[in-house]
Amino acid sequence: MKKVLVATDKPFAPVAVQGIKKVLDQAGYELVLLEGYTAQSDFVNAVKDVDAVIIRSDKADKEVLNSGNRLKIVVRAGAGYDNIDLQAATEKGIVAMNTPGQNSNAVAELAFGMMVSAARGFYNGKSGSELRDKNLGIHAYGNVGKYVAEIAKGFGMKLFAFDPFVPAETIRKDGIEPLNSVEELYSKCQYVSLHIPANDKTKKSINFELLSKMPKGATLVNTARKEVICENSLVQMFEARSDFRYVSDIAPDNAEEISAKFSGKFFFTPKKMGAQTEEANINAGIAAAKQIVDFFEKGDIKFKVN
Ligand code: 3PG
Repeated sequence: MKKVLVATDKPFAPVAVQGIKKVLDQAGYELVLLEGYTAQSDFVNAVKDVDAVIIRSDKADKEVLNSGNRLKIVVRAGAGYDNIDLQAATEKGIVAMNTPGQNSNAVAELAFGMMVSAARGFYNGKSGSELRDKNLGIHAYGNVGKYVAEIAKGFGMKLFAFDPFVPAETIRKDGIEPLNSVEELYSKCQYVSLHIPANDKTKKSINFELLSKMPKGATLVNTARKEVICENSLVQMFEARSDFRYVSDIAPDNAEEISAKFSGKFFFTPKKMGAQTEEANINAGIAAAKQIVDFFEKGDIKFKVN
C-alpha cells in the first residue's frame, strides 16, 4: 500500500484534508498526517517510509529528500516551489510538482483586501482614496495576475502588465495594456501588485531605484515572496517618500525596524495568508492528491517542475 504524507506546518482546512483522504482512499493509498509541526526534524523523520509527500511552504530540503528511503514524488500544493531543493530531488530521482492555478483566486482576493486597506489609510479615520481610475501595474501575468486583473476591472482601475514570458497580444486580449519594461510599469502605476517567483534572478530585484519611479500615492502590494524585495530599499523608500505604502503577505526580515519607524504606512500578515482559504486548500490539496495517484497509476508527469 502506497503511503502519502501530508506535511503542513500551516495546516489545510479540515474539509480539504477530508478531500485529500477521499482521493487517496479511492486509490487504496494510506494518508499520513503531519500537521502544525515546529521542528524540521519531525518532517525529516515522517518522510522516512512514505512514497509521496504533499507540502505547502514546508521546506523539502536535501535532508528531507535524502531521508525519504522510498520517496518518489513531492507535490507542492500551491504555486511557488522555491521551498523544494530541485537539484537534490533530481539527483535522487524524485519528481517534484506544483499545482498551478489552484489557489490563485484566494491570493488575488487578499491582494485587493490589502490594497483597499492601504487606500483607506488602514482605517485610521482620516480621508483616504479610491481605487477607481488609478493605474494598477501587474508585475508578472500568471495565474494570480489574471485574477487580480479580473477583480481590478470591477474596481474600475486602469490596467497595465509587464511579463517578458507572456506574449503582449495575450495581455492585450484581456483588456490590459502590456508594457515593455519593468521600469515603465513602475513609472506608470500608483499601485503595483507583485506576482514574480523567487529565484536567483528575482531575489532583491524590487529595489529603491525601481520603487522610486512610482508616481505619487505609490503602493506596493506583495503577495509573492518577501525574498524578491530589497528590504533596505523599503526603509529608503519610506524615508524618501511620505506617500509610499507597502502591504505584504508576510513580514520582511526588517519588520521590527519598519514597525518602529514607519507606523501607519504598512501592513504585514502575521503568517502567509494568501492561500489560506477553505476553497484554495480544497483545490490545491485535492489536485496534489490526484497528481500523486495519476503519477503512480498512469506515469503522468504533466506538472513536473524538475
Ligand atoms: C503559493 O506559492 O502557492 C502561495 O505562496 C501559498 O503558499 P502556502 O500554501 O504556504 O500558503
